[in-house]
Amino acid sequence: MLRIIMTCCLLFSSTSLFAFDLENGKALHDENCVRCHTDKLYTSDKAKITSYEKLHARVRQCELMAELTWFDDEIDDVTAYINANFYRFEISK
Ligand code: HEC
Repeated sequence: MLRIIMTCCLLFSSTSLFAFDLENGKALHDENCVRCHTDKLYTSDKAKITSYEKLHARVRQCELMAELTWFDDEIDDVTAYINANFYRFEISK
């Protein structure tokens, strides 16, 4: 039984390490992240984010502020979605 649980965990963690779910990111974003600002902020003159790492940190910050209690892979998905559609930074990892 333990082995089955461990295999499941491995499967889940390896998929979330290597592939971001952009659809999931968009859904989470559109549902939770346009309350205080819209996605226009990301491409406006006021946008301050200059790297993927900073974007990831900012998503975490906003997520905490909004008290959403997301898992790391949800932060990853939303960061990847925003990056793919707005900032377009190189992902260095
Ligand atoms: C409680 C209000 C609030 C919520 C909810 C919120 N944000 Fe923010 N967000 C802010 C504020 C305030 C700023 C700073 C705006 C500024 O720098 O002028 C910001 C800035 C950002 C930036 C940086 C924009 C830039 O380039 O400077 C990103 C990216 C971002 N938010 C993403 C998100 C995401 C993703 C979510 C959903 C998890 C989210 N926000 C939800 C308040 C919020």
